[in-house]
Amino acid sequence: MNKTIVFKCGGSVIKEISDDFFANLKQLKNDGWKFAIVHGGGPEITSMLNKLKINTEFVKGQRKTTKQVLEVAEMILSGKMNKFFVSRLTSHGLKAVGLSGTDGGLLKAEYLDKKVYGEVGSIKAVDTNVLHGLMDVGFIPVIAPLALTESCQTLNVNADLAASAVASELNANKLMYVTDVSGIINNGKLESELTPADIKELISSEVITGGMIPKVESAMSALSERVKEVMIVNGKGSFLANDTFTGTKIIKEKEHVL
Ligand SMILES: Nc1ncnc2c1ncn2[C@@H]1O[C@H](COP(=O)(O)OP(=O)(O)OP(=O)(O)O)[C@@H](O)[C@H]1O
Ligand SMILES: [Mg+2]
Repeated sequence: MNKTIVFKCGGSVIKEISDDFFANLKQLKNDGWKFAIVHGGGPEITSMLNKLKINTEFVKGQRKTTKQVLEVAEMILSGKMNKFFVSRLTSHGLKAVGLSGTDGGLLKAEYLDKKVYGEVGSIKAVDTNVLHGLMDVGFIPVIAPLALTESCQTLNVNADLAASAVASELNANKLMYVTDVSGIINNGKLESELTPADIKELISSEVITGGMIPKVESAMSALSERVKEVMIVNGKGSFLANDTFTGTKIIKEKEHVL
């Protein structure tokens, strides 16, 4: 059986990912799971842009990317953050290889809407050959969310959406969004299970805001394709206890208990 999990590790949490999280990964690996990891880098990109005195703004949770912002985003994502995460995995005994979505034909994109977002891509195709090649020999591919257009222009891609596209193309059993909160919080309480209808309601009532919007939207698009289960979990602690995952599970519909 194909046992694959795609993790998206948020830039919000990447520096604070706990030893428990890596222990969970090792347990899953020993249980026969293969992984691919897509990572973000939002706060690090913002901090470098601030140092360089380059303005940055967000539209619907996605960073508006000028050519100058793209240059910094690529440097931070496929340089600093990618290498940082690969070395964390390696130091926990997990074999990892860093890649950009622009490597090996992995992520192909078109402009999302150049006038609104600038150099931001919407993924059009994922070529998983390079991922299978690495996973089949026991490596964890660690992917920076950048993509190439047909004419080989590099574009910045929202990491949540990149992870969702990779998970669909890999036919992953699970897609896990690892972030800095325990899941979706409503009225101070963690939601354990939500359907797309629940999520739409929580967006319109502004319970779900900011960076959580692209996350749940990409969760829903992954679910409607081939991925069986999507979860939002906290990277600051353990997400796995006795084979049960802790966080918010996003499911197609609630089971009716008669
Ligand atoms: N209802 C909600 N429940 C929980 N968090 C929410 C909710 N609505 C908005 N958020 C925000 O979403 C944030 C997580 O998304 P964010 O985009 O900041 O992180 P990330 O995707 O993990 O990191 P990055 O975007 O850098 O890769 C939380 O820290 C929280 O502030
Ligand atoms: Mg985010």
